[in-house]
Amino acid sequence: MGGKVTVVGAGFYGSTTALRLAEYDVFDTVVLTDIVEGKPEGLALDMNQSRSIEGFETKIIGATTTAEGAGYEATANSNVVVITAGLPRKPGMSRMDLIGVNAGIVRGVAENIAKHSPNAVIIVVSNPLDEMTSLAQLATGFPKNRVMGQAGMLDTARFTNFVAEKLAVKVGTVKTLTLGSHGDTMVPVPSRCTVNGKALSELLSQTEIDELVDRTRNGGAEVVALLKTGSAYYAPSAAAARMAKAVIEDSGAVMPVCAWVDGEYGISGVYLGVEAEIGRTGVRRVVESALTDSEVSALKAAAEAVRAKQADVQTL
Ligand code: NAI
Ligand code: 2OP
Repeated sequence: MGGKVTVVGAGFYGSTTALRLAEYDVFDTVVLTDIVEGKPEGLALDMNQSRSIEGFETKIIGATTTAEGAGYEATANSNVVVITAGLPRKPGMSRMDLIGVNAGIVRGVAENIAKHSPNAVIIVVSNPLDEMTSLAQLATGFPKNRVMGQAGMLDTARFTNFVAEKLAVKVGTVKTLTLGSHGDTMVPVPSRCTVNGKALSELLSQTEIDELVDRTRNGGAEVVALLKTGSAYYAPSAAAARMAKAVIEDSGAVMPVCAWVDGEYGISGVYLGVEAEIGRTGVRRVVESALTDSEVSALKAAAEAVRAKQADVQTL
């Protein structure tokens, strides 16, 4: 146990992530920040009071910050920083509708983080995810391996859940994978999906698989439509917290994340959802696996779609 993680943004995603990280009991300190005065301090106080019940020693510190950078001293020398600051979607909105306002927020946060935690690994979750990850790398000037985004693990977990429910099997027997963007060009990878080691195509018809793939691609919107205000955070926070844990434990776990791609699958120079080995340095390496020709084509299409948008964020 040791080290420090900062979670920027004490909304639904950030506060749930902070609590999950504290309950893992692998960090000395979890710092939770927000621009709403008193909110992170209040949440931290509440979370700390659960320590004796849940049995963890990690201390949670709440800190109000300003967009100009006041209050960031509390985050100094973090090993890992999870950026959740930004607006969530409303029903009917796409993740891309958030780009203008969230770009301003993420840029400011990233600059302040770089000043106070120059050696941190950054995990971005603010939407639109692939673009905000790229922007955070530009704004910090950090090496690309030290900036990644969370999306693939969430999308994969949704796919896994839908398959398990459809087949009425234990979720632990199901393995699935999604790559590509956290958006319209998400690439669920049916060829990598198995149940108890058996290919999904042996258990479900192509129409049934297509339905699950579609539901996965719209997984975030389905939750937003039901909640009416705000977006999902239980599954999303589980994914970001596992990434932060893999970093601090230097575990080498391979997970789908938004990472800088440099030649893998014939794609270069873009942040994209791929499998990667995660450790202290962030992304140790992108892990390429066997995909069908149509899956590789879909991944290339996703890369071109997010490449165009990632070029746009440079000026936002
Ligand atoms: P929320 O509205 O509950 O929380 C956002 C928080 O950010 C608010 O408390 C707000 O005061 C704070 N904030 C705004 N500007 C800030 C700044 N400059 N510094 C610090 N804090 C600031 O929203 P929620 O549900 O927590 O979602 C956060 C973001 O995560 C959204 O952009 C959402 O779309 C995204 N998201 C991404 C997912 C993914 O898989 N990558 C999944 C789910 C949500
Ligand atoms: C989600 O996928 C909205 O990106 C968010 O739940």
